[in-house]
Amino acid sequence: MSRNGAFISLEGIDGAGKTSLRELLIRGNYFDNIISIREPGGTYISEQIRAILLDARNTGMAPRTEALLYAAARSQVVEEIIRPALAQGQLVIADRYLDSTIAYQGYGRGLDLDFLIQLNHLCTGGLKPDLTLLLDIDPREGLRRRGEEKPDRLEQEGIIFQEKVRQGYLEIAAREPERVKVINAGREQSEVLAEAVEYLRELVGE
Ligand code: TYD
Repeated sequence: MSRNGAFISLEGIDGAGKTSLRELLIRGNYFDNIISIREPGGTYISEQIRAILLDARNTGMAPRTEALLYAAARSQVVEEIIRPALAQGQLVIADRYLDSTIAYQGYGRGLDLDFLIQLNHLCTGGLKPDLTLLLDIDPREGLRRRGEEKPDRLEQEGIIFQEKVRQGYLEIAAREPERVKVINAGREQSEVLAEAVEYLRELVGE
């Protein structure tokens, strides 16, 4: 399938503000023809997989099971939504994509990075974002922002886990500086939004 649209992913640890940024990008009408999804989820089938993954009672889930379930949810969303949208020339904004697996299951859980890279490749057919915005924030600040919200299974893992994930993301960004742009998300929301819009404009030329 040919692809003419643009594919952007938003990444970062829990509480970094990806979801708010995604909403602001859409509500602000900065770009035409946007479609957005969240991972895990985004389709009827993927949302069911999401429920298993985030269920705080599933404390016995093995790291590889976790990685495979994220991959299964991703495979569905790629086939059902992302590829068709790109073929129609849409701008796809994904709230998390394959770097989440490398950062959380690789750097966070300690699974082999090559295994995860291969798994990601298999489940997406090699589809990578054109641009990834990494919202970087201190895990303590991320935790504070989440406030009283009840933590899901991954959020229960604590600061040390989030710190490993953060370092993982920064290593990914250092390896692929063309694709992954690091945004300091510890600032005012308006500043984060302005920087994100600038990167998107550079990419799509609007
Ligand atoms: P998300 O819905 O983005 O939570 P939040 O809005 O709180 O950031 O993601 C749910 C959790 O799933 C989050 O803790 C990160 C985790 N996750 C992985 O561990 N691996 C993955 O591949 C993905 C997509 C998410």
